[in-house]
Amino acid sequence: MIKNRWVFDDEYEADILHRHDELQSLSRLLAPTEHGQRAEDILIHGPSGVGKTASARYILRDLRQRFGLEWSLLECSGKTRNGIIYDAVTRHSKAAVVHRNDPREKLLEALEAATDGRPYVLVLDEADVIPDLDVLGDLFSISAVSVIAITHADNEWLNRVDRNVRPHFRGESQVEFRKYHVPELVDILEPRVERGLIGRPVDVDQLERIADETGGVARWAIKSVLAAAELADERGHDYFQECDVRDSFDRAMRMIRRDNLRSLPVPYLRLYELVRKIGPVNGGDMKRAYLEHQEEIFEGRGRDPVSWRRAWDYLSKLEDYDLIKASGSTNSKQYKTVDPELEAPVEFDPEENIGVSERPGTRG
Ligand SMILES: Nc1ncnc2c1ncn2[C@@H]1O[C@H](COP(=O)(O)OP(=O)(O)OP(=O)(O)O)[C@@H](O)[C@H]1O
Ligand SMILES: [Mg+2]
Repeated sequence: MIKNRWVFDDEYEADILHRHDELQSLSRLLAPTEHGQRAEDILIHGPSGVGKTASARYILRDLRQRFGLEWSLLECSGKTRNGIIYDAVTRHSKAAVVHRNDPREKLLEALEAATDGRPYVLVLDEADVIPDLDVLGDLFSISAVSVIAITHADNEWLNRVDRNVRPHFRGESQVEFRKYHVPELVDILEPRVERGLIGRPVDVDQLERIADETGGVARWAIKSVLAAAELADERGHDYFQECDVRDSFDRAMRMIRRDNLRSLPVPYLRLYELVRKIGPVNGGDMKRAYLEHQEEIFEGRGRDPVSWRRAWDYLSKLEDYDLIKASGSTNSKQYKTVDPELEAPVEFDPEENIGVSERPGTRG
């Protein structure tokens, strides 16, 4: 039933459908590079799985093909300031040799030399999880470098950005991605069915059901088609049956959660494990547990633990990724993992360090 699994991956180079306005805005902001000039900076924001990264890649691939534009997509998850600059240098085609532990000035000189005044667009993907946003000032010190930052929460992110840098990402520079409507999502699924599956084991009604059930989130819809195909295979069906579609959503969500978890930096994983071990837990106890374990959560990361206020942003990132659930209002939040069976790939056992008497309660 499955001809090509790759078609269902995030990195599959699909044509981007139904993003006319968003692609138009991106094109406009990047247009100066067609004449050898620095692009405008861009802040792409919107929920998880709706085509933010895919659209940025799509438009940049096109510009590379037509005008030889130099660009790199950097996975910033948990990277240090120097780590991001190092990646920016080494991903440039004209980079001289640099070393990870070179001083910042040397890395920036190398970046300047590599670009040599020609536009270089850096996509900072998962910008929510960049620990030190002062890196933006470093990058902007090179005249030809521009940035596309991709985030889930635009306001939270902008609040963390230095006041002097904030205007780069205001107003016209922002491109919002919303969830899809059912017919749009069906169109997005069609080419995947055609290229990824053998024959046509699914009908339009079933694709509509999938598009509807997944609430306009392309990644979930695409993975649900894959999951339904796997289930149909396992059950010996030649075509998707109602039960395959029905059971596909949970299986797809599990695939996505696992991938999401793997993409996160270590402190997020440890925080996730903390919630998994002590949840469901109310906000007050969550805060106490965090403060008690913050040193271990950030151990080996070469930086101090973040404040509870920032840890709260970490928790909302885990929530955006559907890894934890935070229910209730701000003052009476309750935290728990969505799938307590799902373990983070990290060594961290908070229980070892929580005495029975001090184990946070679960009231709330
Ligand atoms: N308009 C579209 N046309 C075709 N494919 C799409 C479209 N939108 C999203 N997709 C596909 O949906 C999947 C998820 O998209 P993408 O990885 O860009 O999401 P995202 O918004 O960056 O999510 P996250 O915030 O979790 O990183 C990818 O496989 C992508 O190719
Ligand atoms: Mg993305």
